[in-house]
Amino acid sequence: MPTPSPARIHDFTVVTNEPIAQDIYALRIAAPELARRLEPGQFLNLAVPGNAMSLLRIPLSFAAADPDEGTIDIWYAVVGEGTERLAQMQPGATSTVLGPGGHGWTVPEGCTRALLVAGGIGVPPVLCLARQLGAAGIPFDVCIGAATASALVGADAFKDAGAGAVLLATDDGSLGHYGFCTVPAEQLLRDADRHYDYVATCGPEPMMAKIAALAEEAAASCEASVERMMSCGFGACATCAVETVHGMKGACMCGPVFDAQEVVW
Ligand SMILES: Cc1cc2nc3c(=O)[nH]c(=O)nc-3n(C[C@H](O)[C@H](O)[C@H](O)COP(=O)(O)OP(=O)(O)OC[C@H]3O[C@@H](n4cnc5c(N)ncnc54)[C@H](O)[C@@H]3O)c2cc1C
Ligand code: FES
Repeated sequence: MPTPSPARIHDFTVVTNEPIAQDIYALRIAAPELARRLEPGQFLNLAVPGNAMSLLRIPLSFAAADPDEGTIDIWYAVVGEGTERLAQMQPGATSTVLGPGGHGWTVPEGCTRALLVAGGIGVPPVLCLARQLGAAGIPFDVCIGAATASALVGADAFKDAGAGAVLLATDDGSLGHYGFCTVPAEQLLRDADRHYDYVATCGPEPMMAKIAALAEEAAASCEASVERMMSCGFGACATCAVETVHGMKGACMCGPVFDAQEVVW
């Protein structure tokens, strides 16, 4: 049974909200108390004004939280009605955000080298982890996959965070490896000169399942940030169930980051 959620409602103000790739926006909000409390891999639940019929908040990861500036950076894909409304929010607009949600990444003690694998809009929580690894001086490499070059985000940000290799892949071959990013990830994991003891991944579920299997083969521990539809975001509704070897678990409280070997993929 998870402990009660520490999430609270905070006011936020939009600082910037601009497109950074095809149908992907970077949103910076000011929410000083929350920015101080967030851990990489946790999530937020944003109330987006503009539709009186929509009571649900939008669950979103974050790419960075700056406790000094009091700001939180979110990258989101515009996929439906709620995120379309979010894209309309202008600097100075205000609303509320519920957080911090769930629990984040747990880098194993003594980790000597990590591999991070992000697909599509799975980049933000992995980038946040990259910044934590970089600050801790833990070497890491990155594989990023996207449908096409214009939808691929984060390559420069991972380099700025201190990544060694940053390997790219696109489904249509318009940038990097032609195909899924699981292929360069497999090459790195099988490279005898690199020994990864930790792998972290977020993206489409088949991608994460493949990465979990490859990590197990390479004897590396692996965590995956798993997305589910979320109605409440704090353990009250059971819409976010994830099947694990220990039974069904709510992604909003027991995740979104899970031990990838415990998830039934
Ligand atoms: C913990 C967590 C972290 C997330 N982090 C990010 C992030 O950093 N950036 C980002 O762009 N998106 C993220 N998402 C997904 C985001 O919540 C959905 O894209 C968003 O709720 C869609 O809202 P909408 O009203 O625009 O679309 P809707 O009209 O509600 O749905 C449009 C499409 O998106 C799908 N969808 C809706 N909600 C989810 C969901 N929770 N997970 C997967 N698919 C969904 C629907 O099935 C439908 O196909 C995250 C989701 C979770 C649970
Ligand atoms: S979203 Fe309601 S229990 Fe997880």
